[in-house]
Amino acid sequence: MELAQTIENRMSIRSYTSEKVSREILREIVRRAGLAPSINNSQPWKFLVITRKDLLRKMAESVSESINELPVKDAEDLNKSVLSRVEWYSTFFEEAPVLIAMLMKPYESVLEQGTGITHDEITRMRNHPDMQTAGAAIQNILLSAVDFGLGACWMSAPLVAQAKLEDLLGVTAPWKLITFVAMGHPFGKPARKSRKSVDEIIEFVE
Ligand SMILES: Cc1cc2nc3c(=O)[nH]c(=O)nc-3n(C[C@H](O)[C@H](O)[C@H](O)COP(=O)(O)O)c2cc1C
Repeated sequence: MELAQTIENRMSIRSYTSEKVSREILREIVRRAGLAPSINNSQPWKFLVITRKDLLRKMAESVSESINELPVKDAEDLNKSVLSRVEWYSTFFEEAPVLIAMLMKPYESVLEQGTGITHDEITRMRNHPDMQTAGAAIQNILLSAVDFGLGACWMSAPLVAQAKLEDLLGVTAPWKLITFVAMGHPFGKPARKSRKSVDEIIEFVE
């Protein structure tokens, strides 16, 4: 598919058929994630491709548990309904044929080696290049999914249960869970979300 068409066609897909996604396609999607730019070409990432149903169920249960532990403010009924919506947007991956978990470890910075500036200071100064790196890789995954006729949705909401999920997935230091992508063959087509016009978001500096 042409890149422009792939970009136009991408939208968050949250419902999937039960059809499996082949290992070859999943390998190729992760390979393309690894082609993304990264800070100092550190490639500080690893991708867990999770298809085990019992594990997905346990992960979703942990996320629900953590959401239900969140403090509810006044106007309780309203907040409960908000929470149940959040719960769905955080746990629908349970029904996905595939969930890709992105792990990252601290990147190595040249500046850190040559100066007294700490890793955390550099990260703040450069506006979290690790997260910028993650975004580039995830976008490659989302666009590749479209390219293979799949639907996908970036998911950070499950991280409300980060510690429990790291435990379930056996993630240990220096690795950390960064974000997820749920994926599968699309079931139905949601309405496209509106976007700001280019005139609203562009400013030429000449
Ligand atoms: C960093 C990030 C995290 C997101 N996390 C979630 C999530 O946890 N659950 C979800 O349903 N959608 C999630 N989304 C998808 C956004 O809601 C979606 O991209 C946005 O509404 C625009 O819709 P579109 O992707 O269909 O264009 C996330 C998107 C981004 C960029």
